[in-house]
Amino acid sequence: MNPFKAIIISAALVLAALPGRAQERKPDEHLPKWEDLAATPQMGWNSWNKFQTNINEELIKATADKMVELGLVDAGYVYLNLDDGWHGDRDEQGFIHEDKEKFPSGLKALGDYLHSKGLKFGIYSDAGLNTCACYAGSQGHEFQDAYRYAQWGVDYLKYDWCFHGTLNPVDAYTLMRSALRKAGRPIFFSMCEWGSSKPWEWAAEVGHSWRTTGDIAAGFFKGKHNWDLGVMEIVERNEPLRKYAGPGHWNDPDMLEVGNGMSVAEDRTHFTLWCMMAAPLILGNDLTNMTDETLAIITNREMIAVDQDPLGIQGLRLLKEGDLQYWFKPLSDGDWAFCIVNVGEEAVSVPVDWIALDFKDGLSGRRTDFGKTNYTVRNLWDASAKPFTTLVKGKGKLRKQMVPATVQVTVGSHDVAAFRLTPVK
Ligand code: GLA
Repeated sequence: MNPFKAIIISAALVLAALPGRAQERKPDEHLPKWEDLAATPQMGWNSWNKFQTNINEELIKATADKMVELGLVDAGYVYLNLDDGWHGDRDEQGFIHEDKEKFPSGLKALGDYLHSKGLKFGIYSDAGLNTCACYAGSQGHEFQDAYRYAQWGVDYLKYDWCFHGTLNPVDAYTLMRSALRKAGRPIFFSMCEWGSSKPWEWAAEVGHSWRTTGDIAAGFFKGKHNWDLGVMEIVERNEPLRKYAGPGHWNDPDMLEVGNGMSVAEDRTHFTLWCMMAAPLILGNDLTNMTDETLAIITNREMIAVDQDPLGIQGLRLLKEGDLQYWFKPLSDGDWAFCIVNVGEEAVSVPVDWIALDFKDGLSGRRTDFGKTNYTVRNLWDASAKPFTTLVKGKGKLRKQMVPATVQVTVGSHDVAAFRLTPVK
């Protein structure tokens, strides 16, 4: 390109991306978000939880190979997302480059490799001047960065909120939404401003998912540092937000810590609750080195189907009773997912009283109708358990009637028992 033209183009790009410019635009000047990318919550893998900034081409390619080999791609985990730390420097024109030591073949070649494996390519940036690990952020370079990602074949952007200074989150995220649209390649927009400005109230038009909390750590009740959170702390914050989630725009209670150090029971509970809450399922463990138990959890197809159900309604906690929590999620075709979580230190065996659990979900308008509807109940974590029904033939005076069955369920400490209820036709 002739140098004069290059200067004009880069000046125009820089002008379009100047901070504060968003405030000057009228709302109708913004470009809309890409549609049809998030009918169900996104699924994939991200490098942060296990590797932080210690990422490179070899690790990412090995992870991609494992995602195919272990059937994770077939199970729905299609995005492979680089988090913080892939960045090199900006050039004189302001365009960002990859770290050539970590990614000697370049990110375009990496994207091509991922696509050749049937995967989609995700990347990470930040709305502020720097990322959280102090690499270059996108502030002032939004249009250039989006253009560059599109050139590299990127399909997913996680956009963080460190070093944002006086930026207004609505403006900053809307600006990047416009930039992604302008760049011409459909890119999933995963907003990561930690719930600080209640994105659930304004971001359905801006991104495809928004973080609802600070960072997760591999702890069941508590995080590992004073800035991160345990699984059950996150659940408390994310559960009340169910009405804001739906197809195209999801609450994101952060990426999975399955396989990163909690017990198998805790990992199972974590995974189940993320599925019950229609959360993005972004794996965060080392896929090249994991136990059979971890693999069994993350590839449980029936549990994944609860998360990915096309109705797209986030589940609810109906009841807390001592250490037990009773959760329901309405599913398509009249089905329900149901689980009992035991946060106590001892295993518990409880009778399930269907009538006591009968309820109408105001959000979906669905009733369980346990007094009248007979459901077949399948255990989602124990394939060897025999399915049973919620209504059985009465005895004595009730012998002409169907009555609620009494079922005893045992739930281990920090564990979960999960079921799918399907109406008997
Ligand atoms: C923030 C995000 C994390 C991760 C790191 C990277 O803390 O919330 O998920 O992306 O930044 O530095």
